[in-house]
Amino acid sequence: MHKNLRLKIGQGADFIFGNLELVGAFQSKRHKNTEKSGAKARFGCMFKPSWLTLAPALGEVLLLTKASNAKRRQLVVGNWKMNGNLRENASLLAAITKGWQGERGADVVICPPYPYLYQSRECLQHSPILLGAQSVNEQDKGAFTGEVSASMLADLDCKFVIIGHNERRRMQHESDQQVAQKFVAVQKAGLIPILCVGESLQDREQGKHLETISRQLNAVFAHTGKDVFSNAVLAYEPVWAVGTGKTATPEQAEEVHKFMRAQLGVLADEVRILYGGSVKAHNAQQLFALADIDGALLGGASLDANEFLAICKAAE
Ligand code: 13P
Repeated sequence: MHKNLRLKIGQGADFIFGNLELVGAFQSKRHKNTEKSGAKARFGCMFKPSWLTLAPALGEVLLLTKASNAKRRQLVVGNWKMNGNLRENASLLAAITKGWQGERGADVVICPPYPYLYQSRECLQHSPILLGAQSVNEQDKGAFTGEVSASMLADLDCKFVIIGHNERRRMQHESDQQVAQKFVAVQKAGLIPILCVGESLQDREQGKHLETISRQLNAVFAHTGKDVFSNAVLAYEPVWAVGTGKTATPEQAEEVHKFMRAQLGVLADEVRILYGGSVKAHNAQQLFALADIDGALLGGASLDANEFLAICKAAE
């Protein structure tokens, strides 16, 4: 549980720790106080030595627990992208279903390429792991060669659909408006859109990241209103962090997630917001500890059963 704590030291800096380990006198206070967000605790020396450099103010601490997201169940989504084949998928799915039996407190979704949806559906049928798709066409049906509709995905028991992924925005030139139309089509078919937003490296370097994210979100809000987000998931995927091995720092991720949450108005506390971009087993726990991160959208790490399962376990 301690991984879910955020500490505000005095009136000053707000420290967010990925792997908090609280010891000594503080432990008993923790049990009394962390149920409620904002509980105050007094303590002597609560940090392990390595924390001391980060915690200059020993005295009164305001505990901001992850209580604010207690009603949001963590979600881990594996986006296989254009990878896999029948043989590899069968062994990956066998290992994942064996390792994730569903007794744990997180939802897990796999998004294989279209041709393998049927195979994955068969492999997942006795598993709590859900099926998702990587993309969708905004039209219901008709002469759209090579495209797949949301009702087809529903027919194959998909529950989630990734939309607005930066690879599609950039390589397939999907516009903000088209993404908004896809969002509507997915919900109309009874599926849950996972709406991806994220800034380029250039936006980030010019300090325009929130502007970009705001534009991407507003394009959908303008089309649908905000109420429909009660049945949607958001994902923040900084373009510069996807497939590069560079993860956003906890501070960068939390800034954007908090901003995105604030855009949701009355649904702010309900909607799950995932982080995506070079999430691996070694950094997942630190990201999941952040108050406004509710899980991960994984690329590379979802192709390795051990890595994937370790991340799912970190999310529970
Ligand atoms: P990586 O985890 O490989 O960086 O990819 C993230 C992603 O794009 C998931 O949709």
